[in-house]
Amino acid sequence: MSSSAQGYTHFGPVDCTLPLNTKNLKGKTAIVTGGANGLGEGYVRALAAEGVNVCIADLNEDKGKQLEEELKGTKFIRCDTTVWENQTRLFREAASFSPTGKIHYVVANAGIHRPDEVFLYSGDDQEPHKPDLSVIDINIQGSLFTAKLASHYFIKQNGQTPSPEQEDTCLVLIGSGAAFLDCPRQPQYSASKWAMRGIMHALRRTAFYYGSRVNVISPWYVKTSILSDEAFKHVASVGVQFATVEDAGQSLLRILSDTKINGHSLFVSGKKWSAQGYLDLDLDDYAGNALVQEIQTDQVKSAPVFLGLFV
Ligand SMILES: NC(=O)c1ccc[n+]([C@@H]2O[C@H](COP(=O)([O-])OP(=O)(O)OC[C@H]3O[C@@H](n4cnc5c(N)ncnc54)[C@H](O)[C@@H]3O)[C@@H](O)[C@H]2O)c1
Repeated sequence: MSSSAQGYTHFGPVDCTLPLNTKNLKGKTAIVTGGANGLGEGYVRALAAEGVNVCIADLNEDKGKQLEEELKGTKFIRCDTTVWENQTRLFREAASFSPTGKIHYVVANAGIHRPDEVFLYSGDDQEPHKPDLSVIDINIQGSLFTAKLASHYFIKQNGQTPSPEQEDTCLVLIGSGAAFLDCPRQPQYSASKWAMRGIMHALRRTAFYYGSRVNVISPWYVKTSILSDEAFKHVASVGVQFATVEDAGQSLLRILSDTKINGHSLFVSGKKWSAQGYLDLDLDDYAGNALVQEIQTDQVKSAPVFLGLFV
């Protein structure tokens, strides 16, 4: 079996110091969920600056419409990502908005953080109550709906047989430091962010059948509305250097502009860890661990990638 039949080859970490060449992005169409604020807004701004048509999918109508007015080539579409019908409408409207009728890039960014009731103690005298799992609903279920619809549109546009005519498409899932680090006291949020890597690992070997790619962006702390001002102040006060929305935007452009990047997670870091503000920590392939490579080979033996997309 050739490595291309595997659909995935690890070439080592992405070199994020190389100059960006974004000329392939102009005129493409993207969806950014949670695009009205914070990091999502950063992805929208970075894409719009490159001439990408961007659909801003968000619950926040005021901010979404404001952004649409400010940025040429963008359209706000109200969407609650936890509601399937909202997302099907989002994709339909995005396809109509696209000058070519095609959707090229999808960024599943909508996400929340809240006090974790799975972790919290109910008290000695209390029967534990059913925990609120809204972090799972938004961060995982919403992202799975987005991933399903992204693949659907990419397959519809490109077919299931690799050919040079297939136009590059890419799904980008949003992880976090919590997608690979120990973050005490927040099992739901951590589960939801590890899950983004899980989705990526499940899709990266077969995405080539429909001319596609799937990657993760994992931001370090970035000052947005996801935590309170007090929480961010506390993090800053203990000496943590934040990452920036702008660097997150550049990490997205890196992924989308280089069509060889598939199956990677880029960490949007403090500048002390990378001059660019983002880097590939190369945690997704267990580089150098021959035993894990061997186990991975056995994992796909019962349904090898070369058998086709749907087996
Ligand atoms: N800010 C950080 O430090 C940080 C670090 C790592 C990962 N992240 C991740 O980045 C993503 C964006 O976070 P942020 O910091 O920009 O947060 P934010 O709260 O500033 O912005 C989130 C946006 O998502 C929207 N949103 C929330 N729920 C939605 C839903 N169900 N449907 C549609 N839109 C919805 C909100 O209206 C808001 O516009 C999240 O997935 C988050 O987990 C953030």
